Amino acid sequence: MRVLFVCLGNICRSPTAEGVLRHKLQEAGLAGRVEVASAGTGNWHVGAAPDKRTQRAALLRGFDLSALRAQQVVAPDFNHYDLILAMDLSNLRDLKALQPAHGKAELDLFLRRFDGVKDEVPDPYYDGEDGFEEVLDLVESACDLLVIELKGRL
Ligand code: 4NP
Repeated sequence: MRVLFVCLGNICRSPTAEGVLRHKLQEAGLAGRVEVASAGTGNWHVGAAPDKRTQRAALLRGFDLSALRAQQVVAPDFNHYDLILAMDLSNLRDLKALQPAHGKAELDLFLRRFDGVKDEVPDPYYDGEDGFEEVLDLVESACDLLVIELKGRL
């Protein structure tokens, strides 16, 4: 199974989801069975490490994001990944515009599929520290449900 998380810049929300899912898969003994990555619809931060505020908030919860580097999503990703999960509706719209007609990836809104209470992970980039905590809260609970689905599909 291959999972790709996508946000706008690939320095806040999607790298958080990548780090959290990797950690939870490790805990579940499934680390080698699922490929996890993240990407941005935009290219401004390609090659950059996650935002310092994102890294700090994640590390306080035990998620080390320091080795991650931003990349931009590309059309061939739709034939490599099984599941592509967008952080907000704007990301989903941009992904639909990029999606090839016969890609194998299932494209969905991360929280709509794995939370149900809220649809979008709000962009924390222009917010205060609380925004980064909210991203972690939403991503952690959705990843718990995603791990259950992945277990069932392996
Ligand atoms: P992300 O947050 O999409 O969660 O990585 C953002 C990061 C950078 C920008 C916007 C959102 N930006 O405009 O540079």
